[in-house]
Amino acid sequence: MAANDLHETATALVAEGKGILAADESDGTIKKRFDSIGVESTEEKRRAYRDLLFTTEGVEEYVSGVILFDETIRQSALEGTPFPKLLASKGIIPGIKVDKGAKPLALAEGETVTEGLDGLRGRLEEYRELGARFTKWRAVITIGESIPSEYCLWTNAHALARYAALSQEAGLVPIVEPEVLMDGDHTIERSFEVTSRTLHAVFTELRDQRVHFEGMLLKPNMVLSGYDASEHTSHDEVAEETMRCFYRHVPAAVPGIVFLSGGQSDEDATANLNAMNAIGPHPWQLSFSYGRALQSPALKAWDGKPENVEAAQRAYYHRAKMNGAARTGMYAPEMEREAVAV
Ligand code: 13P
Repeated sequence: MAANDLHETATALVAEGKGILAADESDGTIKKRFDSIGVESTEEKRRAYRDLLFTTEGVEEYVSGVILFDETIRQSALEGTPFPKLLASKGIIPGIKVDKGAKPLALAEGETVTEGLDGLRGRLEEYRELGARFTKWRAVITIGESIPSEYCLWTNAHALARYAALSQEAGLVPIVEPEVLMDGDHTIERSFEVTSRTLHAVFTELRDQRVHFEGMLLKPNMVLSGYDASEHTSHDEVAEETMRCFYRHVPAAVPGIVFLSGGQSDEDATANLNAMNAIGPHPWQLSFSYGRALQSPALKAWDGKPENVEAAQRAYYHRAKMNGAARTGMYAPEMEREAVAV
């Protein structure tokens, strides 16, 4: 596929006021999410849950793309249309998670490397036929006393770049996700330092492996103190530190940065994105590719029951709308209360 087409898809994914729904939970992760509401994770339940998200009326106003999991891209909506086709008919671009998860990194206690490169070229071809137009690969970086090691950072960066190059070769926009985990008691300064080292390695490898920056998106963590840290960071501080870090490392040729939520509360994830856009304009679009922060209230409202589908769809639509507002820095916490009244 021509570089122009990749750029066009990447730009469409970060269209004004819109962002991405990450609904690509692996079997293990979706089981954890279902456990939290006491619902057994069967194929039919997973299909029903994804169906309610994907058939939510009007959400395409705020959602440009959806990341699917291998099982989901092969499933059909309850009314029979294959999910990728259903999404595309609403103007939502289907994407696919292609990594095979983070596995222990050899000779590196407490660190992981993401697997899934073997046979990837063939899998990408199949996913494209199934309707995918973009892909995602997540590397996981843990902050600890003496980690991450340079070994871990560069090994993961190398794999991310190999994946991104293969993805572009297949005509699919890669979403490159180096996630520095927000778990732990580290300070915001430590998060800045580790995120900075991570982005340095990732963009060095991407450049060396000839990845076309105009035809990719970056999916990073925000820079903030760990969840168990004694000092919590304000939205303004998160915005300033995250931008200070990214201005140093992310080429302006990259069309967009689509943040992960990483276990922040849904309102924090929205407010932090809003604060970053409020101090713009920036060289790239700043958007969202949230999993939990878009889905949590919907998952709770659904509770595994068909009679709750409408309430769950309202909850999902509301979060999508709030994050759509955060894309332009126009979000305000009062908007949450107004919606509750509806
Ligand atoms: P969260 O927003 O829940 O972190 O999920 C995003 C994602 O896709 C992680 O890979």
